[in-house]
Amino acid sequence: MSLLTRAEQALNTHFEQAAGVGAPPRLVAAMRHAVFSGGARIRPQLCMAVATACGDDLPQLTNAAAVALELMHCASLVHDDMPAFDNADTRRGRPTVHKAFSEPLALLAGDGLIVMAYRVLLQSGAQRPDRLIRLMDNMTTGVGLPDGIVAGQAWECETSADLGQYQRAKTGALFVSATCAGALSCGLEPEPWAPLGAFLGEAYQVADDIRDVIADAASLGKPVGQDILHARPSSAQALGLDGAIAHFDHLIDQAAASIPVCSCRDMLRQLVQLEAERLVPKALCEGYFKAHPGVAASRISATH
Ligand code: IPE
Ligand code: IPE
Ligand code: MG
Ligand code: MG
Repeated sequence: MSLLTRAEQALNTHFEQAAGVGAPPRLVAAMRHAVFSGGARIRPQLCMAVATACGDDLPQLTNAAAVALELMHCASLVHDDMPAFDNADTRRGRPTVHKAFSEPLALLAGDGLIVMAYRVLLQSGAQRPDRLIRLMDNMTTGVGLPDGIVAGQAWECETSADLGQYQRAKTGALFVSATCAGALSCGLEPEPWAPLGAFLGEAYQVADDIRDVIADAASLGKPVGQDILHARPSSAQALGLDGAIAHFDHLIDQAAASIPVCSCRDMLRQLVQLEAERLVPKALCEGYFKAHPGVAASRISATH
């Protein structure tokens, strides 16, 4: 079974279990809309891949940890799209949750997903409280203060922010939680796996900034041009497009190099390389630079 299939199946199973029966139907529909809408599932796949490298002796716990992180991610997207934040109409090629269901239900759906993430972990980790406590701690680190998603989003409310700190918090931290959760689910120390999450997570946000400039809304499934519109700190603005692409390539190389020696090293390196090409396709860069000859184009001859 592929990691993507495993992640999708685990999400389905845990969502139904944790939602229970009798909840307000429109709230549940809004939460389903947020989760089952074609996300790349990179965070749960990373968690599962690292767990595989670590022996994966309790696959049900690995699945729960992976699902919990993806639920947190989906919640962050629901709130991020709302008018108080990025005011986006589309996400994953469909109307955002507040557009499809209303703002009150989007707020509640995000809240509901955050609480559901804890419930999923609690339901699956009760047999191993030693691992559960560390997984909880790891998840809150990726989502909360001082350096998780909430803090990252809050840097947008300050008069100035350090670009790297902002990106590491709003996106990188949950990637670190994902790789570390893979080790923690197996009862192993997470530190050797943190750099992979950190480099890949930062690369992910740099890629998001690049695609905000060079991609189109139809292929991304969400609006483009948002960073300039909302005056967000962005790698493409700070480094220039060419500089941002070079930074992305460097982060991808660092991510691949950071993978600890293990039996799954080749599989993990392949996952990183496939993500790199999916995130910033070479053909997309070539097309953009050809259409904009004034923009420096060292990337055209570069490979990931
Ligand atoms: C989007 O994350 C938000 C960022 C952190 C850049 P993803 O690109 O992982 O979104 P989905 O889950 O595949 O929709
Ligand atoms: C995404 O930030 C990170 C979150 C914490 C939601 P962005 O606002 O840059 O991501 P997109 O472009 O909406 O996916
Ligand atoms: Mg945002
Ligand atoms: Mg946004």
